[in-house]
Amino acid sequence: MSTSEIAPAGAGESDRAAFRAGPVDEESRARLAAGGLDYRRVAVADEEFASWLQAVGRGFLDSERSEAQIASIRERSGYRRVTGVYDPEGPMPEVPVSTIASWLGDLAVPGGALIPSCAISAVTVAPTHRRRGIARAMLEGELRAAQAAGIPMAMLTVSESTLYGRYGFAPAAPRAGWRIETKRAGWIGPRPEGRIDFIPRERARELLPVLHDRVRHLTAGEIDVPGSHWDNFAGTTPVAEKAGEKRAVQYTDAAGEVRGAAIYAVRENHDDFTKSTVSVHYLLAENDDAYAALWRFLLELDLVAEVTSYELAVDEPLLWMIADQRAAKVSVVDHQYVRVIDVVAALENRRYGAAGRLVLDVADPLGLATGRYLLEAADDGAGRVRPLEDDEAVDAVTVVLGIAELSATYLGGVSLATLVRAGRVQVAPGGPASTHSEAVAAASRVLGWHTAPRLSIWY
Ligand SMILES: CC(C)(COP(=O)(O)OP(=O)(O)OC[C@H]1O[C@@H](n2cnc3c(N)ncnc32)[C@H](O)[C@@H]1OP(=O)(O)O)[C@@H](O)C(=O)NCCC(=O)NCCS
Repeated sequence: MSTSEIAPAGAGESDRAAFRAGPVDEESRARLAAGGLDYRRVAVADEEFASWLQAVGRGFLDSERSEAQIASIRERSGYRRVTGVYDPEGPMPEVPVSTIASWLGDLAVPGGALIPSCAISAVTVAPTHRRRGIARAMLEGELRAAQAAGIPMAMLTVSESTLYGRYGFAPAAPRAGWRIETKRAGWIGPRPEGRIDFIPRERARELLPVLHDRVRHLTAGEIDVPGSHWDNFAGTTPVAEKAGEKRAVQYTDAAGEVRGAAIYAVRENHDDFTKSTVSVHYLLAENDDAYAALWRFLLELDLVAEVTSYELAVDEPLLWMIADQRAAKVSVVDHQYVRVIDVVAALENRRYGAAGRLVLDVADPLGLATGRYLLEAADDGAGRVRPLEDDEAVDAVTVVLGIAELSATYLGGVSLATLVRAGRVQVAPGGPASTHSEAVAAASRVLGWHTAPRLSIWY
């Protein structure tokens, strides 16, 4: 891990504000209006936001929000573009039948750039109005609104894996959930010289965003974390539940610089006090020493038999820091979904695993990104991309793929060769690659990346 690079700036504040305040998509508004529904933005500061929040809670099977919870969420929601669909014929016309919150965020991509990306969240449709195309209208609407605002990517995390492929999203950064038997693991990793200390949760709340801003560009898939999420991790909102269970520690290196922090909770085992469990809510390390020191601290806690953590990368060095790898049960699940909206901007922002030329023949059911594009990756990993004319022939490997498959490969989380074997992508020889297998290998090397993408939050 290197921290010598300066994190590249992502989306600017004026672009974020413009997207937040921008209109809903006219095509979707007209489609919903034809069915008697009113699709519009919702003002966070106004009373209508409270009803919108109650609709989100109901959609996710939560209980009703209290006044205090609403006030707390409202205070932390200023960054969101909030939209709802209303049914004026219903007995509660002030409560939306469908909700979405989105915002212009930054997505870290292979090579360390931060690309502006439309984050989509709080997607609900009331069970009374399901399966009438309302979610489709809103999602297509947000994607078109993002395109109109010049945003090249969209991203989301999901409740169900089957919902978003139809809109061109694909799982691009999986998450690895770990359960580690601590007594069995055996620490064989480094033992850095710095120190671990407990800190107040409020101090962790201040520290985590600062550390995260220093390193997030180094891991493809990470995003700029909204402040409300840090409050939730640290339990620092007035309405935080079980905040007292959370413990926070920091790692300070030998030179006195704080380089990492972790927030975790312990669950005591009353039947056997030596078998308590620890769940790690967030662990952030600015360098390899901080990473080793924090994990060692957690795995060597007395009276703890199991440590769990659920938003880790599939290539965690931690696996190579324990003597018994079978002490860790790792399960991998789709997590960060992305959707390329602007092929040229998206592909020119990331770096590539090898030099080469590829024709990408992209199909997009929503028509946002359909076309043939020439990608030329240089020796330093930089890529140039241009749309090809209809009849323009290029002697290069041709990759025929849908927008979801292009999005799946975008963060380097899946090899193109895997998608070819899965029948999701077709590759034809060209240029120096004269056989199919050479073409697949060449295209996979170009589009690949040397570290796995990861996203450490849900949104
Ligand atoms: C998921 C949800 C938003 C769908 O809303 P909806 O208005 O019923 O969806 P639509 O009628 O617009 O359906 C759009 C498409 O998605 C499909 N679809 C909808 N819900 C689905 C589900 N749960 N599983 C698989 N497909 C689903 C529909 O069949 C339809 O397919 P098609 O247009 O390709 O033929 C809604 O059921 C809901 O609020 N669920 C609970 C909250 C939740 O899980 N939200 C998602 C958070 S990530």
